[in-house]
Amino acid sequence: MDTVTTLLLAFIISVTGLFIFIWSLRKNLFDADPAAARVIFSEGEVGRVEEPALTAQQLASLQDTVGEHRLPDDPERAARLHKELEERLQADRSTSLVSFVFLSCAIVWLIIASSAGLISSIKLHQPDFLTSQAWLTFGRLRTMHLNAVAYGWCPMAAFGVAIWTIPRLLKTELVGGRFALLGCMLWNAGLIAGLGSIAAGFNSGLEWLEIPWQISILLVAGGALIGLPLVYTLQNRRVKHLYVSVWYMGAALFWFPVLYLVAKIPGLHFGMEEATMNWWFGHNVLGLYYTPIALATIYYFLPKIIGRPIQSYNLSLLGFWALAFFYGQVGGHHLIGSAVPGWLITLSIVQSIMMIVPVIAFSVNQHLTMRGHFKTLIYSPTLRFIVLGGMMYTLSSLQGSFEALRSINTVTHFTHFTVAHAHLGLYAFFTLVMFGAMYFVMPRVMSWEWPYPKLIALHFWLVVIGFGIYFVGLTIGGVLQGLDMLDPSKPFMDSVRVTIPYLEARSVGGGIMTLGHLVFAFHFIAMALRNGPARIGPALFHRRAAAATQGA
Ligand code: HEM
Ligand code: HEM
Repeated sequence: MDTVTTLLLAFIISVTGLFIFIWSLRKNLFDADPAAARVIFSEGEVGRVEEPALTAQQLASLQDTVGEHRLPDDPERAARLHKELEERLQADRSTSLVSFVFLSCAIVWLIIASSAGLISSIKLHQPDFLTSQAWLTFGRLRTMHLNAVAYGWCPMAAFGVAIWTIPRLLKTELVGGRFALLGCMLWNAGLIAGLGSIAAGFNSGLEWLEIPWQISILLVAGGALIGLPLVYTLQNRRVKHLYVSVWYMGAALFWFPVLYLVAKIPGLHFGMEEATMNWWFGHNVLGLYYTPIALATIYYFLPKIIGRPIQSYNLSLLGFWALAFFYGQVGGHHLIGSAVPGWLITLSIVQSIMMIVPVIAFSVNQHLTMRGHFKTLIYSPTLRFIVLGGMMYTLSSLQGSFEALRSINTVTHFTHFTVAHAHLGLYAFFTLVMFGAMYFVMPRVMSWEWPYPKLIALHFWLVVIGFGIYFVGLTIGGVLQGLDMLDPSKPFMDSVRVTIPYLEARSVGGGIMTLGHLVFAFHFIAMALRNGPARIGPALFHRRAAAATQGA
């Protein structure tokens, strides 16, 4: 079959598939009733803000921004609300230990990964810095940074948030939490062994898959055990309708093991096919694992905080199915200019551009849901992280779609521009959303408030300013580097020299981000140790929920 026919067929199959799904949604085969957007609210709860990271006074100001809310007067409705809040409480209680363990691991990996990233960054403009030990050299430390974010911080935060959210969405308790705890232990043991092996100089040589397959077995077994309680909980659900966040989270937790298993089977992939598989995995782990988990998080927390259902439930489903259809084939855009067949690359570029569909669907939905409610950002720190993270999803994805075009990739490939984009996606989008979710989840998990609210603002500004310097510096440096590399009249060293000031800027920005992470970790530990004043505020949801409904 010739290239053009293959491309056309792939395009037609994707679009036809998409239309079948849209049609099935219209026919209500997937229960796309817009009222479904309300399932995350209890009876009479729409219009009431929820933000556990605030003191009672701040919460009242937040409520003022969206208008007054009154609990139902009708005793029957009040009783139903009371029952639902009780169920939500039980769901929260059933997940608190498991979520706490995952989120604590996430914090540890965040600090380890940031330190490794910062040292790697300094080494790029101070090559003699920390060179006495082999494990401290750039090649190993940079790989440790990537693996500590990709298999430490990101999945631990994602599992912690998903395990807490799913029982709430299914209005039931978590079943089989012990499996998740065991899985967490195996996963972390695998990651420690994996980083140890990278530090010692043993790795598979494939980016994102460096951990030797013998050790990866621990990650696979751990991941399977973590997935089990989610399956059991799904079977035990008390809701008929699955809210869009469950779709995203459920799919992500199914896609990841499939990707990882296929990528890690030893002796299966060779030569160019191995490179293709490498980037099939590399981009799918971003697009079909981290991205849907973060989007699911936004779809739950954003409406919950502002007390308003998402604007268009259909758009959220369109975003889901378009992502599922288009993302799978984009990995080839990492291999533009390589020996991979041209049609495969072109296919991945077409799909990269088609990704604009789910991205715009999400962005329009987020914007319309927030419309008239932007003032809430002043009061709610969780929302600030989440909304900014959502905007960065749009930005990083649109940037990615254009970066996949051959004309642009010729300049940006093999440059620091790619690294800036990578952090725009996995940091400014994914990580900020996880920070926001953790600010919401932790008070419920601990039944304790964040002890020092000012530290939340400090954390936010440090990471935003730090990232701004990081991103702008590397983006400019990357373009200059790419242009110099393409200029045959210039010696290669010119393209290295031109980047030095921008690499220094990245170290400054990365240093500020790392400081922000230390502030966050300190606050997290202070909360875990139950430091700070014991205010009777919104974090004490249990008491407040009971009081609210008794008073009603
Ligand atoms: C429509 C969406 C997106 C498209 C089309 C896209 C496209 C691209 C392209 C073309 C590259 C550069 C490949 C190269 O020249 O080497 C890249 C790299 C990267 N992207 Fe995206 N991107 C998208 C969204 C995202 C998102 C949402 C994230 C994070 C969650 C992300 C994370 C990354 C990372 C980490 C890399 C660097 C991979 C590496 O070299 O190790 N991208 N992306
Ligand atoms: C949670 C926070 C972070 C995440 C999720 C993250 C993610 C990533 C990813 C995905 C890559 C691979 C990029 C690529 O190959 O294109 C990477 C590389 C890198 N990151 Fe980070 N990062 C984080 C924090 C930091 C911090 C605080 C610094 C400090 C400066 C940093 C410095 C670096 C460096 C120097 C590289 C290697 C770039 C290269 O090979 O040229 N990162 N990071």
